[in-house]
Parts: sequence; structure tokens; C-alpha cells
Amino acid sequence: MSDVAPALLGRKAVVTGGSKGLGRAIAAELASHGADVAVCARGSDALAIAAGELRASGRVIHAQVADVTVAEQVRDFVAASAEALGGIDILVNNAGAAHPGTFETLTDGDWQADLDVKLFSMIRCSREVIPHMRRRGGGRIININAVYGRYPDPTFFATSVNRAACLAFTKTLAVQLAPAGILVNSVNVGFVVTSQWKNIHRQRAPAMSEEEFFEGMARGEVPLGRFGRPDEVSGIVTFLAGDRASYITGASIDVAGGMGKYV
Ligand SMILES: NC(=O)c1ccc[n+]([C@@H]2O[C@H](COP(=O)([O-])OP(=O)(O)OC[C@H]3O[C@@H](n4cnc5c(N)ncnc54)[C@H](OP(=O)(O)O)[C@@H]3O)[C@@H](O)[C@H]2O)c1
Repeated sequence: MSDVAPALLGRKAVVTGGSKGLGRAIAAELASHGADVAVCARGSDALAIAAGELRASGRVIHAQVADVTVAEQVRDFVAASAEALGGIDILVNNAGAAHPGTFETLTDGDWQADLDVKLFSMIRCSREVIPHMRRRGGGRIININAVYGRYPDPTFFATSVNRAACLAFTKTLAVQLAPAGILVNSVNVGFVVTSQWKNIHRQRAPAMSEEEFFEGMARGEVPLGRFGRPDEVSGIVTFLAGDRASYITGASIDVAGGMGKYV
């Protein structure tokens, strides 16, 4: 057995949307590196299953049903997480959902809902954790974002616009919080197989197999030629949460198989 301490031993991490997909993989990897972890989601069943798996790590795990679009629920979740874990060092703003739609099809309600779950959830969760991080002398905020924020797609119109706002939020908050030792970064995801893409497949091409649908999309957009896996995102999040990332803030890192035609 190695006598090297796990990289995040004793750190306290909050992961929103930790019951499925990327959030679940991120929570699991943070716990496997020694962090105590709090997760939230709206659906209790999937959350209970994810929490059960996380507890196998032996770390302190707090799981709470909370909707990140509801300010009071965010406040309760963060307060209860800090209490259960004994503080907060790391926030991963991950909860979210894809909202496909063109400029013609999206209603004001769709726009507002997308803005709420993407930008406002980051604003509210960050606002609540910052006092806890200040008390501990620093922290890490990692925003799970989308390549579409830099590489707009009119068929994901609201996502493209609102994710660009999330990038600006990340950079601005990084500047504001640098003197407090709170580092803020964005991880921009391309196409990773999770339940949200499975839903999009069912809506757009129910007659096609999942493999064909994902391969077709990747062929047109992704130089590496395939969708990614959640564990290919959780690694960079763990890195950004740890001591080796101590001089990285305000960065925007694509995990997208080369997707995104820009320099
Ligand atoms: N997968 C990709 O290719 C991709 C690409 C770009 C960006 N992203 C972003 O990455 C993040 C994770 O996506 P994913 O692909 O892992 O999706 P996913 O598999 O659908 O998982 C989303 C998670 O967030 C939770 N969630 C959704 N809305 C919530 C809300 N209002 N309050 C609290 N929890 C909520 C879900 O649980 P409940 O539904 O039970 O609440 C679930 O745990 C999202 O922000 C997504 O936009 C993903």
C-alpha cells in the first residue's frame, strides 16, 4: 500500500447535480482522492443510489434533495453541507441540463429556465459557499460549462448564449476572489455520454441506435471522433481542486476531444 496521502485528504467538496452523469463521476473521484463530499439533485431515488456508492469510499458524504434554481434550497443545502462536512473548500457547479432549441422555437420561458439552471445556479451556489471558503483562508470554485459558450451552435441557441455568460462569470469572479485565495475556473465540456445526451437522442432520432447517433454527431464535430466519458472530465476537476493547480485561476479549459474551431 502507498504511504502517500490522498491528494484531497480532508478537503470538503460540494458538487451540485451529483446524482448522475458528470456530477456523479466528479463526486466519486473527489471522494476517492480523500475529500468529504456533499451532493444535491432534485430526484431523490438516483441521489440515494449515488450517495450509497459514494459512502463506499469511507469519506463523509452528505446528500440532500435540492433544486439549484430555488434560492432557499441552495441556501439550505450549502448550510447543511458545511455543517455535515465541517466546512467547505471546493464547489463544483455542475447541475444543469441541455436545452436544445433554435431562436425561432425558444420561448421567453425557455430562455429564463435555461439561464436559471446555468448562470443563476452558479451565482447562487458561489454566493453561499464564499463565506465558508473565506473562513478557511481560500478555496476552489470549478464551473462545469460547455464548449458551446465559445463555439456557438444555433440549434443550442440558449445554451450557447448562456454558457458564454457562465464563462464571463467565471473570469470576473476569479479576478474578484483572487485576493481571498479562492481560485475560480471553467471546464468546458464538448460531447460526453450522459443521461442528457441519451434524452436528446430519444427526442431527435428515436429510430437510430444510440451508437449510430453519437458516432454521427462526433464524426461531424469532434476531431477525436467520439463522445467522451464522464471519467475523462472528472480528472481535470480533481486536478483543479488540488494543490498542483495553485496558480491557475480564471482559466477556461476545454475537455472536448478537440471540438471548437478557435485558437
Ligand atoms: N454531457 C455533456 O456532453 C455536456 C456538455 C456540455 C455541458 N454539460 C454540462 O455538464 C453538467 C452535467 O451534465 P450531465 O451531462 O452530467 O447531465 P445529467 O447526466 O443529466 O446529470 C445532471 C445532474 O444534475 C442534476 N440537476 C439537473 N437540474 C438540476 C437542478 N435544477 N437542481 C439540482 N440538480 C439538478 C440532475 O439530477 P435531477 O435531474 O434529479 O435534478 C443530475 O444529477 C450540466 O451543467 C450540463 O449542462 C454537459
